[in-house]
This record gives sequence, structure tokens and C-alpha cells, in this order.
Amino acid sequence: MCGIVGYIGKKDALPILLDGLRRLEYRGYDSAGVLVLGKSANLAKVAGRVDDLEKEIAKKDFSGNIGIAHTRWATHGKPNKANAHPHTGCNKNFYIVHNGIIENYKELKQELQKNGHKFSSQTDSEVFAHLIEEEFKRYHNFEAAFKNAIARVRGAYGVLAVCKDDKEKILIARKSSPIVIGVGKDEYIIASDISAILGRTNNIIYISDDEIAVCENNEIRISNFKNEAIGKKVHKVDLSYKQAEKGNFDTFMKKEIFEAPEVIKNAIRGRIVQEEGTVKFGGLDDAQEKLKETKRIIIVACGTSYYAGLLAKYWFEELACMHTDVELASEFKTRNVVLGKNDLVVAISQSGETADTLGAVLEAKRKGALTLGIVNVVGSSIARETDIGIYNRAGPEISVASTKAFISQATVLLLLAIFFARKNTMGQDKGREIISEIENLYAKVGQVLGQQKQIENIAKKYSKYKSFMYLGRKYNFPIASEGALKLKEISYIHAEGYAGGELKHGPLALIDKNFPSFCVATKGSAYDKMLSNIEEIKARNGKVIAIATQGDKKIVKFADDVVYIPKSSEIISPILSVVVFQLFAYFVAKYLKKDIDKPRNLAKSVTVE
Ligand code: F6R
Repeated sequence: MCGIVGYIGKKDALPILLDGLRRLEYRGYDSAGVLVLGKSANLAKVAGRVDDLEKEIAKKDFSGNIGIAHTRWATHGKPNKANAHPHTGCNKNFYIVHNGIIENYKELKQELQKNGHKFSSQTDSEVFAHLIEEEFKRYHNFEAAFKNAIARVRGAYGVLAVCKDDKEKILIARKSSPIVIGVGKDEYIIASDISAILGRTNNIIYISDDEIAVCENNEIRISNFKNEAIGKKVHKVDLSYKQAEKGNFDTFMKKEIFEAPEVIKNAIRGRIVQEEGTVKFGGLDDAQEKLKETKRIIIVACGTSYYAGLLAKYWFEELACMHTDVELASEFKTRNVVLGKNDLVVAISQSGETADTLGAVLEAKRKGALTLGIVNVVGSSIARETDIGIYNRAGPEISVASTKAFISQATVLLLLAIFFARKNTMGQDKGREIISEIENLYAKVGQVLGQQKQIENIAKKYSKYKSFMYLGRKYNFPIASEGALKLKEISYIHAEGYAGGELKHGPLALIDKNFPSFCVATKGSAYDKMLSNIEEIKARNGKVIAIATQGDKKIVKFADDVVYIPKSSEIISPILSVVVFQLFAYFVAKYLKKDIDKPRNLAKSVTVE
């Protein structure tokens, strides 16, 4: 979604704001804008990228030590200059940047228009600036006007406001849209995402919902709507900006795919108790007793995280014999899902800020369920809202298309399945066996990555097709869906993920020489049935790329092209196969010259519903 940066301190604000925006571009990027308060209010906005904004500013005087900036991902109104943030009111005294959606903006806008306010954009966000202006007429005080304006807004917001006539402070409010404050030496950097702050400081204050913060030179005050002061801890965050740089890779996506072995190591570090064939998680310690009582697991997530959840369902059922449901978070929170006393709701989210998943967590909590978050971004909303949690430790994921986060989610979920299995039905030896497979996983993923040239050649050959079928059975069905999602996201090629068993129930009608299929036909209980699927496709002149297990000679008689993955148990092999899908999608998009890290219409971290 949109990105917000604010700066107040002793340095020139502009370079810090632009640098922050660049690091946030991956979140939303159809337009951008910046305001610096110096001798006057210097405002620039463009429809386009941060580079375009920089060109627009060149040669203008943007000196000043306080400013706010924004990259926009359009929700209300086209991505044009007028709709870009920062927005201001009629008298150009107050300026705001906003993430989120104001639900009652139409009513507020009508009321403000009746009072003579003229709007210059189609956005809901502009309402904030006019509201502050209106409230200022009553209170003659920036802070009071801001608080009263916020109190009138319904919806989601992370909002920063500054005032031309009161250049000493940035006002901040948050509801369901992330805001963090970096506490530097004589400066504050405020952002919607920690990556805009790292490199300047690792000291972070997390702002919670319904809190209002005032950043002034050398002072920060946080309060609630009742004007009660709130004491906040400054967290030392163990992340470096280097982790959010591309290094020698051409895209973040490729870099992140190649981080998979490291990500697996990090996900399992300190969590395995080899001699007992079990697993421990520090983040679950507080709820050991309750977890023993867990009868049903309900996983809530969106997109790629949802497919990680779907894969986990097979593991929880097979290894831990636990009733497991997987729900799209957006559906979970709107349906009346019946939750029992011993149900555990597991929310999976890379960003920890996805509005639908957060909404599902809050709904589950309202219904009294124990909630567990599997989250990558430390200190994010879902990490803080869930009762207990496990961090992925995958490091910042910048590419919009999620790759390494999926690998880390799958690894953590497999460990969680063992955790429950060892409490329920699984013996020590079986526990040890699977754990040693997991410990060998990163080396095997490395072998898959070593085949990038071959996967690139296959991607080149198939990049001319307009539609793809992705098929898998059992553990490989969720990753077939994930593979199809990856391809469509970054190459804009139509792809469908199906369970092999469903092929004859409809999708087979699509197959002809122009509709290739990517089939996971690795060794395991579904192998023969997948070969039957491939035969059905070949009989309709469909081309087939197969993912197969090293040493499988039979498969070459069936498939047109084969990518081999190392031998492993069928429980674990989907984590290897999904890397093939990620690389294939990456190379297809590369051949089609797509903007791989920033696919059109999409944004990292969907903080609106
Ligand atoms: C796909 C992708 C999205 C996210 C989804 C959930 O590559 O990145 O489908 O997986 O928006 O995001 P998180 O995991 O941050 O809740």
C-alpha cells in the first residue's frame, strides 16, 4: 500500500524524505509527493515514481528541517498529480499524508463543502486537511484541531500532519494502518514501514491504534483520545538496511528466491530439540497449557500466506492428526465462523499488517479464541494483536511477489506441526526423522537453485504462452496454486492452480496445444495419479512441464520438459518444488520484460480491506 515518511530534526529534510520514499516504493508507487517546511511551504507532487518527483524538485529550493512525504497506491481517485499526497486545505496552512481509507469521507466532505471548503482532489484523504482547518477555526491550536479532526474520522488511517505556521512539530495518528517512529540523535523519522528508517536508526517506537503522537525537536509525546499520556518503550530492532538492498542481483525477487537456504536456517535456529525429536518456540511458552487442550486449528491468511496455510493443513492433519481448517481471512471475518473453546486461530502474514488478516484476528479474539501469529515483520500489528506468536526471521521482503516469506512460513508451519504432533500422536523416532529431513532441507533447496540455468531455458521456451495450468495432488496442490499465483502476479499470464483430481471435472476442457501444464509429479503417494493426469493432458495435445524426483527415468516418457528436485520425503518436497515455480515465474517475467519487483496494480502489504 501507500508509504509515508516524515522527518523533523536538525538536518535537511528533503534527502532523508526522498531516500525513505525510495525504500517504500515497493509498497505503492503510482504517484508520489513531498512537502518541506522552510521559509515557505515547498510542495511537489507527481504521477509516477520517486525519480520523477526528484526531477520535478530539481533546481527548486526545498531547504528545511521538517517535512512529510508519500508514495501512493490509488484507492479513491486516479493516480494523478492532484490526487497525490501531501494534501492541504483551502488556506494552505495544514498538510497531511495518509494511508488507509476514511469510511465516512463523503459525509464529512459534504459538510465541509457546505462550510465553504473547496476540494482539489478526488481522494478521501484530503478531508483530513480540511477537517483540521475547520477545527482550527474553533480551537486556534494545531494539536487540538488535529485531535478533534481525528476523532471525527471513521475508518483506517496512519496520518501525519504539519502546519506552516507551527513548524516545530509533526502530529501523528494511527488506526489499523502502521506507523513507526525512529528515534535518532536530535531527530525523528516517522514512517509506515521500518525499512524507511533503518540505516538512520534502529531505535523504534511502535504507535498503536487510537494513539496520537507529537514529535517535536528533542521530545516525543504520546497520548490517547482522553489526553492521557502513554509511556512507550524504545525498541532496539535487530535489522540492517543492507538486508533491504539488492546486492548483486538484478531484482529483489531474485535475491529473495536465492535467500531461501538462509531463510530455512534462520527459521529453525534454536527451535529444534533433536534428542527428543521435538520442537520448541519461545513465543508459545506463555500458553503451553492452553495449547495442550487445542482440538482444532483454524488458519487465516491471504494470498501466498493462505497457500502456506493450505499446505500446513496437510501437515497438521497427517502428522498431528488435528482437525484443521484454512480460511481466507477476508471471508473469515465476514462469515459467522463458529469457534469452540479449544480452537486455536493461526494467522499467517509476512507483513503483519494485512487488513483482512488483522480483521480476522480481532474477530477471533472477540469470539474468545486463542490466537497465534506467524509473522515476519517484528512489532507489526498482527504480531502485537495475537496472543502468542512465532517470527519467521526471513528478513525484509521487498519484492511485491512473496517468495522467501513463503519458504519461511512453510518451514515454521512444519515445525509447528511437529510441535503439536509430539504432544498428540507422534513418537520420538518419527519426530527425529522429520526433523533431520528439515535440517537437510536448506542444502537441497540450494541444489534446486543450482538449476537456475535449466529453469531459465524452460521459462524462455514457454514464455510465449498466454495461459497455464498448474497441477498437484495432496501436499503439492497448495503449491500448484502458489505457483500459478506467482506466474500471474509478475508476468500477467493467466494461470490456474488445480488439484490433479479436479482436472476431469472441468478444467480439462481448456487443454489444447496452446495451454501448457506445469505438473508436480514428484515421488510419493500421488505419483501414479499425477502420471495419469499428464497422460490425459498429452492426449489433448497439451504440453507438460513436470517437476520430478531425481533419478525418475519414467517421467521423461510422459512430460515434454522435466525439472528434477533432490530426493526427499513427500512431506517436505513441496518446499523444494515451490522454488522451481518461483524461478520459472521470475524468468518468464524477465523474458517478457516486466517490472518484476513492482508488478502493476499490486502493492506489498495490503492495509485496506
Ligand atoms: C503474493 C503476495 C500476496 C500476499 C498477501 C498477504 O506474492 O505477496 O498474495 O501473500 O497479500 O500478505 P501478508 O503475508 O503480508 O499478510
